[in-house]
Order: sequence, then structure tokens, then C-alpha cells
Amino acid sequence: MRQYDFIIIGTGAGGLSAALHAAKVGRVCVLTKRSAAESNSSWAQGGIACVKADDDSVEQHVADTLVAGAGLCKEDAVRSIVSEGPARIEELLALGVDFDHKEAADGHLEFDLTREGGHTRRRVLHHRDATGKEITDKLLAAVRANPGIDVLEGHYAIDLITTAKLGMVSEDRVLGVYVLEENSGKVITFRSDRILLATGGCGRVYLYTTNPSIATGDGVAMAWRAGAAVANMEFIQFHPTCLYHPQKRSFLITEAMRGEGARLIGSDGKEFMQRYDPRGSLAPRDIVARAIDSEIKRTGGPCVYLDISHKPADFIVSHFPTIHRTCMEVGIDITKDPIPVVPAAHYQCGGVLTNANGATNIRGLCAVGEVGCTGLHGANRLASNSLLECLVVARRAVELLEHKMPVSRTIAQTYEIPDWRTGNAVDVDELVVIYHNWDEIRRLMGDYVSIVRTTKRLQRAAARLRNLKREVQEFYWNFKVTREVLELRNLVETASLIVDCAIRRHESRGLHYTLDYPEPDNNRVPIDTVIRRY
Ligand code: FAD
Ligand code: SIN
Repeated sequence: MRQYDFIIIGTGAGGLSAALHAAKVGRVCVLTKRSAAESNSSWAQGGIACVKADDDSVEQHVADTLVAGAGLCKEDAVRSIVSEGPARIEELLALGVDFDHKEAADGHLEFDLTREGGHTRRRVLHHRDATGKEITDKLLAAVRANPGIDVLEGHYAIDLITTAKLGMVSEDRVLGVYVLEENSGKVITFRSDRILLATGGCGRVYLYTTNPSIATGDGVAMAWRAGAAVANMEFIQFHPTCLYHPQKRSFLITEAMRGEGARLIGSDGKEFMQRYDPRGSLAPRDIVARAIDSEIKRTGGPCVYLDISHKPADFIVSHFPTIHRTCMEVGIDITKDPIPVVPAAHYQCGGVLTNANGATNIRGLCAVGEVGCTGLHGANRLASNSLLECLVVARRAVELLEHKMPVSRTIAQTYEIPDWRTGNAVDVDELVVIYHNWDEIRRLMGDYVSIVRTTKRLQRAAARLRNLKREVQEFYWNFKVTREVLELRNLVETASLIVDCAIRRHESRGLHYTLDYPEPDNNRVPIDTVIRRY
């Protein structure tokens, strides 16, 4: 059994920045299921949205976020998170994060701000096309250099331990987490009164996704099992432009490329976005992804194309070196050729329901970053607002936890926590079945719960997921736990939450588009889809 003042699960932008804040007040443990460098954050390309330009303002950033969010953002949360952006950017600069600069008209250096869909101003700070890696590398270096923080890699958080789970009827409070130490195969109990979930999203629930393999919805599933309220899971954001190539399935082509003038064209070489929205290629993501989906269905082609070849080659290579290099590896020269692209699952706009400080309905438990649902994104996230949210909410969540229960007090240790019990059977043949189940979930989500939905398809998905859940539950109880079994269990849980939320929404709004209710329900104030297990 191990005890810490703060336990942070995840080493993306949310978890790492929370760790640095928490270490100012107590002993911190950061758990991560793979290596600390693996996260969605480290794959972020376009940048981080923050009001910096003279022609920009907090109110304009708020307005753009609200428009993208299609009536479902919580305006207070949006305003407060956007307002705090500049202070968090200063902290990144102090850690040495190197955002691109350019020479202004009067000769001084200023941030080279780019644009993305839905932004009416240039407000995206970036490090070429590899902003996430630049930020997480610097955060991780600072975390590793901090003697108050233990970083435990290969430590898979299985389930939260709460007073309710132990059968106590008093207020529900988090007490710790069961963790699989992958090297030894042992499950260890970690105790803490203050736990931050920073486990990221669930892109891997879909076959075609921009997300790395860590994104299996673990945090939402874990919180759900522990009784946390979950909201708006129907709003899965599909990024319009994922590279369409069999050898590079999950490679994103940043929206910043459209911000710098790239055009979406069909196989006939003609632009099509103006037919769908007057904002053209820079309309919010839900609109562009649906337009591409519709073009692909209309023409029967496998993809559309993104073309930036009209820009000077040195501009393209200096702004998008990672994309240039990666495309070259598969024979596409983006300075000359249009890039084949398709929409792919990218971001979970819903998640564990929190306020703008990351607080959940379980005391001592906060959710930070993509796993949480603060109300910033509503029904569709504005590009580059997620890294911003990670940084802002991480600091607030630490402050809140410390305020509610100062580290000088601990109560988790006064509770008797039972050791983990697991089945002992190991059967390698069953691994094949696990992979088949995984594949089935991801295919059915792509077929039935994608950009365009219908009630019938959602019901079919729900029925198949119910069966799969029963099967996965059997593995879980009877076999020795492994990462594969645990991820499959979380994947099927998260997929079910997406479908359950989608079935409840009888309208089309933002990222949820259904042919059975093709319009937003304007007869009532838009509401979140909130569900709880108990
Ligand atoms: P993550 O960065 O995903 O980190 C999650 C961490 O939790 C990982 O370390 C993971 O291993 C760990 N973890 C998960 N489950 C467990 C478990 N059970 N036990 C232990 N550890 C666990 N957003 C922007 O704002 N700007 C961009 O330019 C941008 N570009 C993007 C490009 C790509 C290709 C992708 C995929 C996303 C992009 N996003 C962008 C979205 C953004 O990167 C993410 O939403 C954000 O980084 C999420 O950060 P996070 O800290 O919440 O989670
Ligand atoms: C991108 O670079 O297009 C991704 C930005 C984001 O997801 O916010």
C-alpha cells in the first residue's frame, strides 16, 4: 500500500501541469500506464489558443468558443478559462517552451499566431506543427527534476476506491486507486485524499482516429463505475483532415494548414466547402467534417484532398516540417501534391461532469483535461482550446483539492481498504478473442455511431455493446488482469456511454447529427446529457 498527498493519473498536459502545481504543497505521485512521453498531448500539432494579438480580446475568444459550441457551452466557464489563458502561457514560457515568433512591421519580435477553424482572429500559439511535443517535453523535464514528484510509468490505474464502493453511506469521497504494476503483474493499492484524473480521451473506441493507442477512455469508465456523473458523451469530435493512407492511419493534418490557406478540394480538383458554409474551409469542425462525409458519400470516392501546394515550398516546409516529412515517407510531396484526407475520431467533448475547477460529484476527485466536461466545449470544441483547458483546470483543481482538504489533514488512511482480488486463470488463446472484441467495438462504432447517426443504428449499436459487455466482464472476473483486458473493459464501457448519451438526445446539435431529428430543438433551452450509474 502506498500513500501520497496527491495522486495524478496521466502524463499529458493536464496531468503534468497539475503535478507541478501540486508539488508546491505536498508529495505527488504521477501514474501513467505506458511511458510518460505517451499522450494525446504530445501529438498535438496546431497549437494552443490564447488571446495575444492587439486586434483580439477575451470577449472575442469567448464569442468564437460559444459559436462553435452550438448553444451548449457554459458561458461562465468559457469566460473564466479563456481569461486565465495568458497567465498559464507565461508559466510555459518560464519553463522554456519555445513558441514560434516572427518579425513585426516595426522590427520587434512577436508571436507568430496562426488560425484554425471557427477562430475569427489569429490566436493560436504554436511550435511549428509539433506544439504538443514541445509543451509536454518541457513539462515532463520540470516534473522529472522535481524531487517532490514520483513518476511511475507502466502503472495502470484500474479502479477508484471510494467510500460508497466500500459500502459506506456517508458522503461519497475518494480514498485511493487500485493500480496494475505491469512489470510485476501485481495490483497495488494507492491511497490519497486528493486524486486527479488526467487520463485523456477515447479516440481508440473508433477504428479511424487521430489518437494514439493510450486513448481508450479509461478515466471516464473508471469515474463512471465509481458513481461520478458523466455528461455529453455523444459529442465526439471528428477531425476533418486525417491523412488517408494505409501506412499512416492515425496521422493528423493540422487545421492550421487551412488557417494558412490550404483548400479542401474534391477528386475533380474543385473546392466544395463554400457550398456548405460561407466560412468555407475555416468553418467550425463539425460543419467541415460533415461536409467531407457528405462529399465522400456523394462522389463515392474514398477521400477528399487538402491542397497547400500554391504556397511557396519553403513556407510549407518551415511551417509544417513534421507533416512534410511524414507525407514524404509515403510518397506525398505536400509542396506539389494535394494530400488525401478523411475525417477521423479526434476528441471527446463530453466526459466526467465537473465545474470549471475540475471538481466532480465525488469529494477529493477532480477531472482535468479531455477526460472532464467543464462546459468549455459544449456541443463542439473550438480548435486549440483543449490544451488551454488542460493548463487552466489543472491549476484550479489542485488549488481546490488543497483548499477543501489541506495536506496537513488525511483521512484515507483511517479507512480499512481491502486488497485487490482477481481471478488467476491465464489463457493466451483468449487474447485472440480480446483482440477480436476490440476490433468489433471499433468497427461497430464507426458503422453506427459516426458523423451521421440514426436512432435505429444507435439502438443496434447499444444491443451489440450489451452483449460484448457481458463477454468482457467474464474475462475481467475470471482471468488475471492484464492491460489488454482492462483496456477492453474500459473501451466497451466508454462506447456504451457514447451510445447511451446519443440515444437520449432527440435533436441535432454540434457534433451530434441524426437523420431522425435533423434540426436543433429550438423550443427549449439546450441541456447537457447527464447520466449516472447510481
Ligand atoms: P492526454 O494528453 O491524452 O494524456 C492522458 C494520459 O493518461 C496519458 O499519459 C495516458 O497514458 C494516461 N492514462 C490513460 N489511462 C490511464 C490509466 N488507466 N492508468 C494510468 N495512466 C493512464 N488540442 C489543442 O488544444 N491543440 C492542438 O493543436 C491539438 N492537436 C491535437 C492533435 C492530435 C493528433 C490529437 C490526438 C489531439 C490534439 N489536440 C489538440 C487535443 C489535445 O491534444 C488533447 O485533448 C489534450 O492534449 C489532452 O490532454 P490530457 O492531459 O487531458 O490527456
Ligand atoms: C489541429 O492541429 O488541427 C488540431 C487542433 C485541435 O485539435 O485543437
